[in-house]
Amino acid sequence: MAEWVAQWHAEHVRFSQLLDFLDAQVAELHEGEDPDLGAMCDVVSYLSEFGDRFHHPREDVAFARMVARDPALRLPVNRLLQEHRAIAFAGEQLVALLSEAMAEGVVLRSSIEASAALYLTYYRHHLATEERQIVPMAARLLTPQDWDAVARSNPSGSDPVAAAACNDAYRALRERMATRATTTP
Ligand SMILES: [Fe+2]
Ligand SMILES: [Fe+2]
Repeated sequence: MAEWVAQWHAEHVRFSQLLDFLDAQVAELHEGEDPDLGAMCDVVSYLSEFGDRFHHPREDVAFARMVARDPALRLPVNRLLQEHRAIAFAGEQLVALLSEAMAEGVVLRSSIEASAALYLTYYRHHLATEERQIVPMAARLLTPQDWDAVARSNPSGSDPVAAAACNDAYRALRERMATRATTTP
């Protein structure tokens, strides 16, 4: 159980670091500099892919078990599930704009900035709610059987090819982020 809570938290920390990088690139965009649009696009794609395949299926099971143990959680949990959909939608729009800009289409900087700001706001708010309220509550409410169900919830989590691809994508992103940090004045 403690190990699942630790993993849940570690994934949120990882997501926050990626959002920090995205935020820094958006600041460059705002200041008329030359952000790494490809890395921005890869960050959002990675967050969508990892979320869909690994993170959200586990949260779906954990949330359902929490509501079963405390029905008063139905409303806040429904809100979090809506936020998953809103974040996915905002992410798709941002990736589409970034892809168009990289393909030399005419995309206003202000459009990318507004789309990224929306995505960052939704995502940061969502992570803060889960970290402050939901993860600690799950640690209190869920039983070892519930955590077993969380562990079993994730068919692609046991797919070593999918897991390796996601880890490789994350490692590549970390390297790009580090390179960007050392080359940007
Ligand atoms: Fe979530
Ligand atoms: Fe989460």
